[in-house]
Amino acid sequence: MIATIQSCGLMGIDGYIVTVEVDTGNGMPAFDVVGLPDAAVKESRERVRAAMKNCGLPFPLKHVTVNLAPANIRKEGPIYDLPICVGMLVCCEQVSQQSTEHTMFLGELSLTGELRPVMGALPMVMAAQAAGIQNVILPAANALEAAVVSGVHVHPANNLTEIIRHLRGEAPIPRFTVDTAQLFARGNQYPIDFADVKGQENVKRALEVAAAGGHNCLLIGPPGSGKTMLAQRLPTILPNLSFGEALEVTKIHSIAGTLPPDTPLLATRPFRSPHHTISAMGLAGGGRIPKPGEISLAHHGVLFLDELPEFSKDVLEVMRQPLENGVVTIARVGATLSYPCNTMLIAAMNPCKCGYYGDPNHTCTCSEAQIQQYLGRISGPLLDRIDLHVEVSPVAFSDLSKRGDSEPSAAIKERVDRARAIQQARFADTEGVYANAQMNERQMEQFCALGKQEQNILKMAFDRLGLSARAHNRILKVARTIADLAGAEHIGTEHLAEAIQYRSLDRKFWR
Ligand SMILES: Nc1ncnc2c1ncn2[C@@H]1O[C@H](COP(=O)(O)OP(=O)(O)OP(=O)(O)O)[C@@H](O)[C@H]1O
Ligand SMILES: [Mg+2]
Repeated sequence: MIATIQSCGLMGIDGYIVTVEVDTGNGMPAFDVVGLPDAAVKESRERVRAAMKNCGLPFPLKHVTVNLAPANIRKEGPIYDLPICVGMLVCCEQVSQQSTEHTMFLGELSLTGELRPVMGALPMVMAAQAAGIQNVILPAANALEAAVVSGVHVHPANNLTEIIRHLRGEAPIPRFTVDTAQLFARGNQYPIDFADVKGQENVKRALEVAAAGGHNCLLIGPPGSGKTMLAQRLPTILPNLSFGEALEVTKIHSIAGTLPPDTPLLATRPFRSPHHTISAMGLAGGGRIPKPGEISLAHHGVLFLDELPEFSKDVLEVMRQPLENGVVTIARVGATLSYPCNTMLIAAMNPCKCGYYGDPNHTCTCSEAQIQQYLGRISGPLLDRIDLHVEVSPVAFSDLSKRGDSEPSAAIKERVDRARAIQQARFADTEGVYANAQMNERQMEQFCALGKQEQNILKMAFDRLGLSARAHNRILKVARTIADLAGAEHIGTEHLAEAIQYRSLDRKFWR
């Protein structure tokens, strides 16, 4: 007898339907799994056997063959325990094939038949929705996350017995629902605020521009000048996530297993600040069972790299392609995975090993060669991908002793929101483009046209600063954002001049 059960696999951040076929025939008792299973899938045999035995179910003394179709894609992880087990139950006539139709099964089994949560439930339920599968039966711990998808009936179960009683119609598991609007309305709330930062108006302005257009930003300054403090407050002025963006971000965190248990939908932009000891794989993603890296976990949010020169060289270089393309591509046996990473990079660093190069109040003890060696850890190509270079000067005592006249985050965010609304209207027809930083060449031609005077200024800067073509384009995008912040239809000289000024700092430090 053959049973056919629907389940799901993951390819990058998207789910694809996997059909689990279970065949029992005469012959020597055996239990084989075919269809490119990895070690964890092969181990399913032992878990299914024990779970059935411990739930008092008969295990067939037959030749059992399980096929996971499509057979050409590698299947990973323990999620096929449940569909394989249900297929066995159909073959043993414990439940009918009919009762399992129009239903996707996902879940890892314990030896006692309890259901354990799986990673990537959200994208898999989204795949069920896309394939028109009506019901999903999955572990109770994944219910919240799965219920975010509209149009699919989610039936969460704690153990195998509950599922059997559900399929037999003895004790149907009620549909689990969640109010997505309410989850989403939790909104942005932070215990920190830009009002805590005294002075540093030029840095705040640069971060406002970065937030408004989704641009990358580098902060350079001596120890204790407030670089970390400023960068950490960036999320407080970022625009709210749209529902579509929130689903994309949540999908990635669902696959990585970093979704907090009580948060089925991430409603705030991620802010990731990995330690500088992170590996290239930790940052970009990959691994034996591929997982998204920090750069993808920061999708639609901020990747903050504090103490940038302390990161190892290959970690920094691996970011170059993803930063440019907004996607990480990982080659696998027989397939290529991609994880999106439309991320704002914010980096902070001291200008030299002792930290005081360029500081008016301290003498730098590094030699010229030491300074260049330290700065040399940040390669030209990486620097070229950073749109705003900002020098953070030590805070003046007069600024520090002032009381409470710093602008609060809410006021800055209002301006950022207004600039983003203009961009939203501008890119309404282009899927996947949300901010100026993501414009392609054609869009730049259309939206960043310059007048005669502006062209002259840009040409002068291009020659004087020895800019690359990439820097030239990035300056135009930043200028577009500054014009949007000012509510201007065309890029004016003052907008362009400010954008160019953010690219002149690297000439001061890097020679
Ligand atoms: N502009 C400021 N207003 C108020 N407090 C500040 C300001 N700048 C710095 N501080 C105080 O100094 C502390 C140290 O700042 P922070 O850690 O951000 O410095 P940093 O530039 O990152 O230094 P390092 O280069 O050593 O990492 C902050 O926690 C804060 O208490
Ligand atoms: Mg710091």
